[in-house]
Amino acid sequence: MRDPAFPHRHLLGIEGLTPAEINYLLDLSDRYVGVNRGPEKTSDALRGRTIVNLFFENSTRTRTSFELAAKRLGANVINMQVETSSVVKGETLIDTAVTLNAMHPDVLAVRHPDSGAVKLLADKVNCGVVNGGDGSHEHPTQALLDALTIRRRKGRLSGLLVAICGDVLHSRVARSNFLLLLTMGARVRIIAPRTLIPSGVDRLGVEVFTDMTAGLKDVDIVMMLRVQSERMRGSFIPSVREYFHFFGLDRAKLGQAKPDALIMHPGPMNRGTEIDSDVADDVERSVIREQVELGVAVRMAVLEVLANNASAHNAAGHNAAGHNAAADSRQGLPGRTGT
Ligand code: NCD
Repeated sequence: MRDPAFPHRHLLGIEGLTPAEINYLLDLSDRYVGVNRGPEKTSDALRGRTIVNLFFENSTRTRTSFELAAKRLGANVINMQVETSSVVKGETLIDTAVTLNAMHPDVLAVRHPDSGAVKLLADKVNCGVVNGGDGSHEHPTQALLDALTIRRRKGRLSGLLVAICGDVLHSRVARSNFLLLLTMGARVRIIAPRTLIPSGVDRLGVEVFTDMTAGLKDVDIVMMLRVQSERMRGSFIPSVREYFHFFGLDRAKLGQAKPDALIMHPGPMNRGTEIDSDVADDVERSVIREQVELGVAVRMAVLEVLANNASAHNAAGHNAAGHNAAADSRQGLPGRTGT
C-alpha cells in the first residue's frame, strides 16, 4: 500500500502538496537529522533498492546530497551525468528514461535545464521520480530543506515573515520556496530589481519590493539567491558592483531585519555579488551550512517514501503509463507501456 500520509508516486514540485503532506516529510526528515548526527549514520530502510541520480545539468552539491542520502539508507546508487550519458550521442530524454526504466530502479533523482522535462520523464517510468531541479520551475527538496532549517530554528513556519531576495526570475528555489511558505502560512516578500521579478508574481500572494531597505524591514528570515548569470541572455543587471551596492546583503542592510533574523542561501554563493562574506559567515545568524546538512536528511525522507510508494505501485500491477496491466488484460487490451 502507498504511504497514506504521502500517497504520491513522484515529488515533482511543491505545487499541489497539502500542509499535512509537507509536515509529514519534514517530521520524517527531522528523524533522519538525528540519525545523521549519530555515530552510525546508516539505516536499512532502502537496503537492496536502487536509486539513480540522473543529472542533465552540472551539480555537485545536490547530486552529492542525493547520493549520500541514498547510501545512508543502504541503497545502491548509480550516478549518470549528462557528459557520460548517450544524450550527447543524440538519444532523447524519453529514450534515456525508458532505457533506465528497463533496469528497474526504485527512484530516479533527476535534474534538467528545461522546465517541465522531469515531469515528461516521470510519465514514462514505473519508478518514483524526484525533481532535483528543472529549469526555472521547481526544486522541491531545496524548499523542504529550507523549511526544515527554519522550522528547527524558529519552531514554526506559520506567521513568519520571509524575504526572498535577488534573482527571483531565474530561480526554481524561489518558486518552490514561496509555494511552500505560503502553503504553510508564512508571509513572503520578494526583493529584486525590476528586471529580475517574474511578471504576475504578486498574484501568487507575495509582496513585491524593489528596495532592500524597505523590503527587509522586520523580516524573520533573509533568503538570498544566487545571480544566475548562466541563465541570463542579455543584460539583467548593470554591473556586479552596482548590483552588490543595491541588492547585495551586507551588515547595513541586514540591520533592517529583526535582530534574530536568519540568513540563508541555497548555494553556491557568489560572495561579493549577492552576499558579503561578513554576513555569510556570521556564526550567530547564518544557517547556510546547516541548510546543506539538513538537505541530506530531507533527501533520505523523500527517497524512502517514494521508493516504498514505487513498490506498492508496481505490486499493484501498474505499468509505466499508470494503467493496471491485469485489468487491461482482463478487458482484452494489450498492456500499454506509455512509451
Ligand atoms: C540551486 C539550484 O541549482 O537551483 N542550487 C542548488 O540546488 N544547490 C540554486 C542555484 O543554483 O543558484
